[in-house]
Amino acid sequence: NVKAVILAGGQGTRFWPYSSSERPKQFLAVLEEKTMLQATYQRLLQLLPPEDIYVVTLQPYVPLVSRQLPQLPGHQIIIEPAARDTAAAIGLAAIRLLDEGQDPVLITLPADQYIGDNAAYTAALKQAAGFAAEGQRVVTLGIQPDRPDTGLGYIKAGPVPPDMAPGGFIPAAGFTEKPPLPVAKQIYADGRHYWNSGTYIWKAATILKLMAEHMPRLYQTLQHIRNLPLPGQTPASLSISKMYEQLEKQSIDYGVIEKCSSIFMLPVHFKWDDLGSWGALERISPGDTSGNVIYGKHGGSETDNCTIFNDTDTLIATVGLKDLIIVNTDTAILICHKSRLQDIRHHLESVRNSA
Ligand code: GDD
Ligand code: MG
Repeated sequence: NVKAVILAGGQGTRFWPYSSSERPKQFLAVLEEKTMLQATYQRLLQLLPPEDIYVVTLQPYVPLVSRQLPQLPGHQIIIEPAARDTAAAIGLAAIRLLDEGQDPVLITLPADQYIGDNAAYTAALKQAAGFAAEGQRVVTLGIQPDRPDTGLGYIKAGPVPPDMAPGGFIPAAGFTEKPPLPVAKQIYADGRHYWNSGTYIWKAATILKLMAEHMPRLYQTLQHIRNLPLPGQTPASLSISKMYEQLEKQSIDYGVIEKCSSIFMLPVHFKWDDLGSWGALERISPGDTSGNVIYGKHGGSETDNCTIFNDTDTLIATVGLKDLIIVNTDTAILICHKSRLQDIRHHLESVRNSA
């Protein structure tokens, strides 16, 4: 009894201006024709029947989800009354999917992954789901890092006890979410840390038990929400929205995973990336001889190591530039030094206010 829950309610601010709060990154096509949500859904179909794949998202994004996944029945869209980050989204999904007497294994996963080998990915998820079904375990796929990225979570590999059944799972000896650069450099250099793929495989009851322990306020709210009708205009659903809006914004990684002791990681070896910011494009796409990655209309000379994404019909011409990200859309132009990519989301507010 395994179900997948795709997290598709993020704002995707680091892909601005291509992404916006009206159309966050998971609803955009960046590397291929399919949007990130569609690609995520299709990968899961290799593992699960359509009736076991759910999407959790915010009310305003429901029409986008339905349009992009017309085959997904409405009751498999779990609707959040407000944006309260991934801990609340996962908790809500766990409450809804914990059937009486049944405790499904949930694969809770982001909608912004690049997966280089779908067959290996599916096999790893299957193995992880089997392992998670055997106990109150939190399982994640671990990726061998190749840089001290400050935008990801890190899992420290612990010793494998001699009595643990073989299968490649490694108990985690620690978890650090988005470390500052000096820490990221240090843990990258020690060779014992893996990146957290952000895909957790765990039973619904385990999720709720961990929330009761580490996020009691969220847990209590979820208990109130349990058994009340789904969002609509009834008084009960209005009170759910009120309660939900008052929750603190917290990601599952900071709120639960960083604090919990029994995490297992399955190292995987395919090419993987978080399609979370413009930096991912140059890592995944082959560049030209000058190291430029170009999407859309562009002409230029003496342009080196630039990523240019042009979503308009206007030509972008560049001369004598290097190490820049240039994004052109109908609504805005972004020109950012590559070294400052992670800062886009912090500066976005002031940039928008000056518009
Ligand atoms: N439903 C819902 N509601 N989904 C949300 C919300 C929310 O409030 N906030 C974010 N999401 C979705 C995003 O749309 C995305 O698919 C997923 O949750 C993860 O959010 P990101 O914003 O992309 O997280 P991250 O990349 O910074 O960090 C996470 O993923 C990394 C791997 O890609 C963490 O788990 C890191 O530890 C991990 O390394
Ligand atoms: Mg991400």
